[in-house]
Amino acid sequence: MIESKTKKIRDESWDFRTANTKRYTHCFHPYPAMMIPQVAGRILDDFGKEAKLLFDPYCGTGTSLVEANLRGINAIGTDINPLAQLIAKVKTTVIHPQILDKYLKDFNDFIFQIKLGTIKVDPNIPNFKNIDYWFKKETQFWLAIIKEYIQQIEDQDIQNFYKVAFSETVRQVSLTKNSEFKLYRMAPQQIEKSNPDVLSVMVEKLVRNRNGMVEYISLKDNDAISKIYDFNTVYQIPEDILSPYSVDIVITSPPYGDSRTTVAYGQFSRLSNQWLGLEELNEVDKKCMGGIRKREIKNFGFEPLDKVLSQIADIDKNRVYDVVSFYIDYEKSINNVSKVVKKGGIVAYVIGNRRVKGIEIPNDEITREFFERNEFKHIKTIIREIPNKRMPKRNSPSNIAGVTDTTMNHEYIVILRKEE
Ligand SMILES: C[S@@+](CC[C@H](N)C(=O)[O-])C[C@H]1O[C@@H](n2cnc3c(N)ncnc32)[C@H](O)[C@@H]1O
Repeated sequence: MIESKTKKIRDESWDFRTANTKRYTHCFHPYPAMMIPQVAGRILDDFGKEAKLLFDPYCGTGTSLVEANLRGINAIGTDINPLAQLIAKVKTTVIHPQILDKYLKDFNDFIFQIKLGTIKVDPNIPNFKNIDYWFKKETQFWLAIIKEYIQQIEDQDIQNFYKVAFSETVRQVSLTKNSEFKLYRMAPQQIEKSNPDVLSVMVEKLVRNRNGMVEYISLKDNDAISKIYDFNTVYQIPEDILSPYSVDIVITSPPYGDSRTTVAYGQFSRLSNQWLGLEELNEVDKKCMGGIRKREIKNFGFEPLDKVLSQIADIDKNRVYDVVSFYIDYEKSINNVSKVVKKGGIVAYVIGNRRVKGIEIPNDEITREFFERNEFKHIKTIIREIPNKRMPKRNSPSNIAGVTDTTMNHEYIVILRKEE
């Protein structure tokens, strides 16, 4: 363990190199830049022993909510991506195996009868832009059948459970390169060969998720629940979501920068959102922090940030607007999150330092500074290596195809306490 004066600690025990990150409901549905459950769990064990309420302002698929609920802590999550909200909800909603198994049997019988030809189906294929570009005609047919099956499930929790498996199926049977989070089409030879068995993929996801749910229930011996809201934390958090001074602990992994050039959450979710009818095209990326470019250069009064902004401006006058727009929103969001934390409460932000135009932006120090402006005291920043980071190791910060730069392979867990 190496400790510096800035209370930045490189601690290998936080790397969790060999940990299984896919246990319980954590096995449901991939998502870009997921937090690993072990990090959220250990922060709770070290700093949240007495906590009653956790808040994750960028909850994504709900990793920290699941970990809180497992420990008997209620949790509130907000996100602007409807797909993320759906996954987080399903991962934290207990459905008993007997009920799930009844529905799974019904789905298997349905498939069997279709294959036998005893049920005749003529599904409505959705009519969204580029559907033929991303899905073969036969794949569209089977997906539409599953979609109609899901729509007739009356129980909302079960319907959502099916939707999550369906969303993952949509992506897997599409003509996208599955190794990428962004939407890239397969090479023509692969497209020709592609012949996915849509129904089997759906069953495989359902069964895996069912087993994850069984494991989750076997471990969770409490009544803790999660509530997930469609909310943009750049705006003041209303009291019907969270009252001021109500949260014991915040554990979150915010976006590292504007979604246009870091992780395109909206793009990742687009095909699922279109099949599920969840969101207008491009809306998610616009709502992400920095999603709407403000043509202003702001002085943040924090030297490490102002310095990198002026270096980026010297290289690219337009690019700096994206970066400034992100930090304007990020600061507002931190101000809003700060208000709902109790005196003495903890915040833990898991964040990476990104590069723009080859210049490293110290997100960990910026996060620390923005919270210190809101009466928080820094406890420590843990530096962890990302052995199995589920986001692209290389991106294109210059936005020129083929020109890549390394993104972070370290991340920082910035931990602060609100003054009493
Ligand atoms: C790094 S991901 C969180 C991943 C999550 N920890 C998990 O394990 O799945 C960041 C999330 O922030 C969300 N987001 C971006 N801007 C937001 C905003 N202004 N308000 C709320 N959520 C936002 C994105 O949709 C994305 O889901």
